[in-house]
Amino acid sequence: MIVLGIETSCDEVAASVVEDGKKILSNVVKSTVCIHEQYGGVFPELASRGAVDLIIPVIRESLELAGIEKKSIDLIAVTKGPGLIGSLLIGLNTAKTLSMALDVPFIGVNHVEAHLYAAMMAENTPRLFPALGVVLSGGHTLLVKILDVGKYELIGQTVDDAIGEAFDKVASFLNFPYPGGPHIEKLAKNVDDTKYAFQAGKVKKDPFAFSFSGLKTSVLYSVKGQGSNKKSPSIISEDEKKYIAASFQKTAFLDVVNKSIKAIDKFNLKAIYLGGGVCVNQTLRSYFSKLASETPLFFAPKDLCMDNAAMIAGLGYHLYQKRPYSDPLDLEALTRIPIGAD
Ligand code: KG4
Ligand code: ZN
Repeated sequence: MIVLGIETSCDEVAASVVEDGKKILSNVVKSTVCIHEQYGGVFPELASRGAVDLIIPVIRESLELAGIEKKSIDLIAVTKGPGLIGSLLIGLNTAKTLSMALDVPFIGVNHVEAHLYAAMMAENTPRLFPALGVVLSGGHTLLVKILDVGKYELIGQTVDDAIGEAFDKVASFLNFPYPGGPHIEKLAKNVDDTKYAFQAGKVKKDPFAFSFSGLKTSVLYSVKGQGSNKKSPSIISEDEKKYIAASFQKTAFLDVVNKSIKAIDKFNLKAIYLGGGVCVNQTLRSYFSKLASETPLFFAPKDLCMDNAAMIAGLGYHLYQKRPYSDPLDLEALTRIPIGAD
């Protein structure tokens, strides 16, 4: 079955052709990130305008690279949410239009669940359920119980900033452009990470919830002084930045790893599947490998960690096997979708 995937939930515009949920024939991702760099984060209106310009060329390129004619498409899978409403609508309406024009079914896919599917997509990856799913991205930070592909229960999520968002904000305090994660990782490499005693937030009565807002503020005060704001001038030397980046990164990641290990023990889970842009980070990968070494660990490959449409096509294929009919043309884009709600 040939599935065309379309993803436009944030600042990326992506299309991919995937055969039978696993074999990636093409995976095209174009980012509008250069427009957002100067704002320190994604500017929603500019992201959706960028998506309007890019969506058709990106789909065309993905078909060409896959060597597929439009008439060979069997199913269209598209991100229905969560994400920025303007951007989502561009992808969803394109999918609906193609579905009508080509007379093929389309299916709306949850972007967060697709990040987890990216970790199970490779041909030889076993599915050891119930498992722990860990999604770490610019918009999401959550732990879920994976009962089956498409069947999840939330264990814990962030009550304020997503972890990638905290990386982006800390990077901007240190004067790096959006997206900040790769800058923090580079700066922190082989650096003493004990110099600053930062702490991740604790959420009352919810041991699996995350809070990164206090950690972010502690970093702000270390960089710009107590009581400062993000526009205040820096009070640290250029050389000091790397120690701050390393201590911040370690604090945020150990919080995720420790809560993941607790969840594995408490719910008796058999494996860990991880996805989302932050999972590109090599230090995160090595913390999990070292500290959760007794549990089988499956990271999404790096090119499928960041937003992409292959994971959308892959998950769409599986959902369609279970429920083989098209979504209705009035399917709505949703900025928020609770995990396991669909
Ligand atoms: O999954 P993604 O592409 O988009 C969302 O669905 O949010 O994730 C983007 C996020 C950004 O916040 C970016 O700073 C972060 O992933 N990121 C990283 C790294 N590369 C990207 N965070 C930490 N270390 C990295 N190497
Ligand atoms: Zn994402």
